[in-house]
Amino acid sequence: MVVLPWSQLVVAVVAACPAFVLSSPLLGVTKSCAHSVKEQVYHPHGWTIDGAAPPDHILKLQIYLPQPNFHELEQALYQVSDPDHENYGLHLSKDDVESLVAPSSDSLTLVDEWLVSHGLDASSLSRSPSKDWVSIHVPVQKAEEMLRTKYHVWKHIASGSTLIRTTSYSLPTALHRHVDVIQPTTSFARAGPFSTIFRLETEEFEAPPPNAPAIVANGGLKVDAACNTSITITCLQQLYNAVGVKPSAKNGNEIGITGYLGQFASTSDLQLFFANQTPAAVGSSFKFVSVNGGLNNQSSPGVEANLDTQFAFGLSHPAPATFWSTAGSPPFIPDVGTPTDTNEPYTEWLNFILAQKSIPQTISTSYGDDEQTVPLSFAQRVCNGFAQLGARGVSVIFSSGDGGVGDGDANPATQECFTNDGRNATRFAPAFPASCPFVTSVGATFHVPEVSVSFSGGGFSNVFPRPSYQDAAVGTFLRTLPKGKFAGLFNPAGRGIPDVSAQGVNFRIFFNGRQGGVSGTSAASPAFAGIISLVNDARLSKRLPPLGFLNPLIYKLPFAFNDITAGNNPGCGTEGFNATKGWDPISGLGTPDFRKLAEILAL
Ligand SMILES: *[C@@H]1O[C@H](CO)[C@@H](O)[C@H](O)[C@H]1NC(C)=O
Ligand SMILES: *[C@@H]1O[C@H](CO)[C@@H](O)[C@H](O)[C@H]1NC(C)=O
Ligand SMILES: *[C@@H]1O[C@H](CO)[C@@H](O)[C@H](O)[C@H]1NC(C)=O
Ligand SMILES: *[C@@H]1O[C@H](CO)[C@@H](O)[C@H](O)[C@H]1NC(C)=O
Repeated sequence: MVVLPWSQLVVAVVAACPAFVLSSPLLGVTKSCAHSVKEQVYHPHGWTIDGAAPPDHILKLQIYLPQPNFHELEQALYQVSDPDHENYGLHLSKDDVESLVAPSSDSLTLVDEWLVSHGLDASSLSRSPSKDWVSIHVPVQKAEEMLRTKYHVWKHIASGSTLIRTTSYSLPTALHRHVDVIQPTTSFARAGPFSTIFRLETEEFEAPPPNAPAIVANGGLKVDAACNTSITITCLQQLYNAVGVKPSAKNGNEIGITGYLGQFASTSDLQLFFANQTPAAVGSSFKFVSVNGGLNNQSSPGVEANLDTQFAFGLSHPAPATFWSTAGSPPFIPDVGTPTDTNEPYTEWLNFILAQKSIPQTISTSYGDDEQTVPLSFAQRVCNGFAQLGARGVSVIFSSGDGGVGDGDANPATQECFTNDGRNATRFAPAFPASCPFVTSVGATFHVPEVSVSFSGGGFSNVFPRPSYQDAAVGTFLRTLPKGKFAGLFNPAGRGIPDVSAQGVNFRIFFNGRQGGVSGTSAASPAFAGIISLVNDARLSKRLPPLGFLNPLIYKLPFAFNDITAGNNPGCGTEGFNATKGWDPISGLGTPDFRKLAEILAL
């Protein structure tokens, strides 16, 4: 997301000064209440304006205050996550993290004064424990006055879903450096699931003859012939060297799956799945947690939620498991009575989880959107939230996306492969949050021996620079590219995606009582998370700290992964990148080997 230079945007409005007058002389800020544009984006591709926003519609605005010491948190995160650092594993407490992300008292004072000047008092605000954001419920009309903007109902052309958004908003100029970002305003992310539709059992599932010989997988392990065409818990245990692992239920290890967009995980389908694939888990279930009023309608389960819970919990059983259902489910009808559906569901979950004392050590999310739909200011704050989880010892795992290097060919309506910066240039389209350097992103493979599958999302962030843990691996890959290849289509200095991969085609799940197949990096993420949860279990049983943020560690352990060297991920009218020896932007470091990881990490 490219923001226009400030000079083009400043619209000093000195007349019609609201009640807001800065009254803290010690801050030495101007008493002028001139507004200027805080952020502006181009009309997003694939969206059309569907009329003015209803003035009485209630918006939940989240105001993010700057975190002036975030660099200290980042430094601490890298120290506790780097196995060669003396602080490895010494994760930060909730209080430590909160003090490192706290805003300055000046920012707090000034933002509060501004809110009070608009008639919003303390009773109408809610804040994070560290006070790094404050949220308010205001009618559109009021938000338009505070932000000197005009909200519209925007319609997503391909799906028909709608959002209330604007392409620009202003703040009193004196407040600019005391506010990072306010949303919902300019973010057009839709946070869709990365899985295909559920297909009932078909001939694709047809098992090989019962006496078909085992196949030898990449690492030399023997795998059932059936795993070449459809994936079960047993296949993943065989492929990733975790046969016969007996995790503890009592060492404190836990795993969690996030659910959005009205995706509910069925407890009855889970029992059918367990009975079919992991009989030892029959009778066990997960803890349901509602976030921001998220529902749990067992009569309308979601394919994504069933896939994620069945595979993550099947692999990690008997670790206690949590499923979070976060409210917000398009298509939303922008009428007066719908107060919260226009918000960003990720941030609702992130705000909720960061406020918890105890958090599962491994968390998988299979949702995301094209990186360019999220303004950089907002992407950075969301990404910083994942850094806070990592600092507290949580492994945050995301699917890398299902569009290869970009969805442009498959889905012309989204125009994902064209930049939304006024140039409309062709550009590969990485997914967010997978592109956040503080999460571990997971691409997809299929078949045995494993090869990368063409939809596996991969490439390079256009906004997040390459983190140092990737320098060697990504540098080596870039040198394998033919000279000038894809010049201008990607950002060679960006964070490379994905970090790792796992199987992602034809996972056998239960849905509404019936068995069928689902594919996507949505399947790969919970599969990888399940293996990581087993490593965390082994560590906790040895009284070692959990793995936490994985990336600084795993880039030092490429030999604990099965290198994937075949396949490519076409998109945006190109053949995409090739899987190569070593890291590549389709399979990352490769697929995990549990016993190799455990031998190194749980001695
Ligand atoms: C696995 O499936 C692929 C695609 O159908 C096929 O080409 C390959 O021969 C199979 N491998 C084995 C060992 O059966
Ligand atoms: C639950 O889902 C069913 C099936 O889609 C639907 O008929 C019912 O209205 C839903 N219940 C609630 C409370 O949303
Ligand atoms: C961007 O360019 C593509 C290819 O020429 C075209 O199909 C698309 O309509 C353009 N989009 C905009 C918003 O100009
Ligand atoms: C991928 O490999 C093919 C075959 O070796 C080669 O022709 C092509 O240039 C490679 N593409 C990239 C992006 O490296």
